[in-house]
Amino acid sequence: MFVSFLTLSLATSLYAQSSAALDIDVKDQDSIKSVAKTLAGGIVDSYQSGLKKDLIPGLFPDPYYWWEAGAVFGSLVDYSYLTGDNQYDDLLGEGLAHQIGEFDAFMPSNQSKSLGNDDQSTWGLTAMSAAENGFTTNKIGNLSWDVLASNVFDTQALRWNEKTCGGGLNWQIYQFNNGYTYRNAISTGNFFLLAARLAKFTGNATYTEWAEKAFNWTQEIGLVSEEYRVFDGTDETRNNCSDINQIQWSQNIGIYTEAAAHMWNLTTNDKWRNTLNGFINTTFDVFAEKNILTEVACEKNGKCNTDQKAMKGIATRSFARAIASAPFISDYLTPLLEGSAKAAAEGCSTKNKQVECSLRWTSQNDGSSGLGESFSALAVVQALLVPNAKPLATKSSNATSTGSPTESNPAASGSGQPAENEGAADTIVASRSLVVVIAVLAAALL
Ligand SMILES: *[C@@H]1O[C@H](CO)[C@@H](O)[C@H](O)[C@H]1NC(C)=O
Ligand SMILES: *[C@@H]1O[C@H](CO)[C@@H](O)[C@H](O)[C@H]1NC(C)=O
Ligand SMILES: *[C@@H]1O[C@H](CO)[C@@H](O)[C@H](O)[C@H]1NC(C)=O
Ligand SMILES: *[C@@H]1O[C@H](CO)[C@@H](O)[C@H](O)[C@H]1NC(C)=O
Ligand SMILES: *[C@@H]1O[C@H](CO)[C@@H](O)[C@H](O)[C@H]1NC(C)=O
Ligand SMILES: *[C@@H]1O[C@H](CO)[C@@H](O)[C@H](O)[C@H]1NC(C)=O
Ligand SMILES: *[C@@H]1O[C@H](CO)[C@@H](O)[C@H](O)[C@H]1NC(C)=O
Ligand SMILES: *[C@@H]1O[C@H](CO)[C@@H](O)[C@H](O)[C@H]1NC(C)=O
Repeated sequence: MFVSFLTLSLATSLYAQSSAALDIDVKDQDSIKSVAKTLAGGIVDSYQSGLKKDLIPGLFPDPYYWWEAGAVFGSLVDYSYLTGDNQYDDLLGEGLAHQIGEFDAFMPSNQSKSLGNDDQSTWGLTAMSAAENGFTTNKIGNLSWDVLASNVFDTQALRWNEKTCGGGLNWQIYQFNNGYTYRNAISTGNFFLLAARLAKFTGNATYTEWAEKAFNWTQEIGLVSEEYRVFDGTDETRNNCSDINQIQWSQNIGIYTEAAAHMWNLTTNDKWRNTLNGFINTTFDVFAEKNILTEVACEKNGKCNTDQKAMKGIATRSFARAIASAPFISDYLTPLLEGSAKAAAEGCSTKNKQVECSLRWTSQNDGSSGLGESFSALAVVQALLVPNAKPLATKSSNATSTGSPTESNPAASGSGQPAENEGAADTIVASRSLVVVIAVLAAALL
């Protein structure tokens, strides 16, 4: 318990419910679940107070951007799956359904001002989690989560940009947005991860090929260095992408680690084993203090912005999925998750239903509180439940149905003959629905 709260609760104990830090036993599944329940409850409570003020389902109030809501919904969907506590499922189904948008690909036009490829794919990865977790809802009609995730993939594969820099995804979808010419590691990284997870889910080799192609490009251009550092990004207007912005973020190493782990799982190829070892080296060399994750670029100087405060949550939930796909890395990453979860829980306090969590996990409370901090604490705590979770669904297991399991792929219903030997992108263009193509054209015209 932190001094400030201790003082406060002593002073006001007759009137207010006391606050308490969260104790966790990282070896005890019940203890982990109980802490996760408190954290999820706090996040849902703040979401619901936002909703009461006429907010649209699936959003959190300012200053939280659209993407962050997508990331938080993903971890709440995971919460239901990992703990069996499904009390929020209706609420989550409603929120997710509201953000699917006009093209069934998480591109709501009223979010276009902040709609980067990385934002869209964050929601796409949440749909992927819903598919893998067998999350059911009656809110999405005849759509299914895997189709929504593959629609995101298809729209992004069509945006793969070889006009300059040899490939990659631009940060922004719309050219009118600032930052369009930037090629950031997270846009291509999320696409790499989505492709790898779709490959695992469907068994379709087209996705495996795209995942490898995306990763190859990040190495060729230097976003992933020889030492397996993942740098922030590069700009297509500056020397053909050869000037690299070398800031490193935990979410980037997390996303790339997870994707590499799925690729190793799919191929058991030494290329991916080596890549994975390299990313783990970087994780410890750059981001860990003892066995606790830090956001090195901004945590200590107090300069993390709202987005950056959520990054350790993205990283740690990816590390947990990486371990499940590539068990040989468990000896390295499990201690990091346990150390981080314990420290993160101890940095949280509760007051009534509200939860406040420290951004820093390496020291006691740094006085911060917010959605990113609570989300990160939830993500790292429930990451410890992943090894005991029931197996993830795949397309053939039918576990992702939303009431009409046979209607598994409506988006492909308009397919013609796939083009021959034109590469993965052309195959996808030929086989996917008009809706997806229209979504991309609309983006190009706006
Ligand atoms: C924005 O678009 C989404 C998806 O079409 C919709 O659910 C939502 O009500 C719209 N309005 C706002 C303010 O988000
Ligand atoms: C730009 O970089 C890509 C990828 O490395 C390379 O294939 C292409 O030839 C380069 N173009 C120019 C004009 O240097
Ligand atoms: C990726 O690069 C490797 C070697 O550098 C190459 O063998 C492989 O064909 C490439 N894969 C794709 C999909 O481009
Ligand atoms: C990871 O670090 C170990 C120990 O320093 C080193 O032996 C190994 O070569 C590194 N692996 C990669 C892929 O960089
Ligand atoms: C691949 O991942 C699954 C979990 O998704 C796991 O059960 C399986 O053991 C992994 N395969 C290998 C070779 O480790
Ligand atoms: C999946 O659904 C199809 C079509 O409804 C059915 O034929 C098949 O038996 C189901 N598979 C499993 C594993 O339930
Ligand atoms: C799914 O539902 C929508 C609207 O409810 C309808 O327009 C569409 O034709 C349906 N698609 C399929 C494949 O049933
Ligand atoms: C694999 O996925 C691609 C891209 O979505 C699609 O064009 C192709 O038809 C799929 N192949 C099979 C065998 O389902």
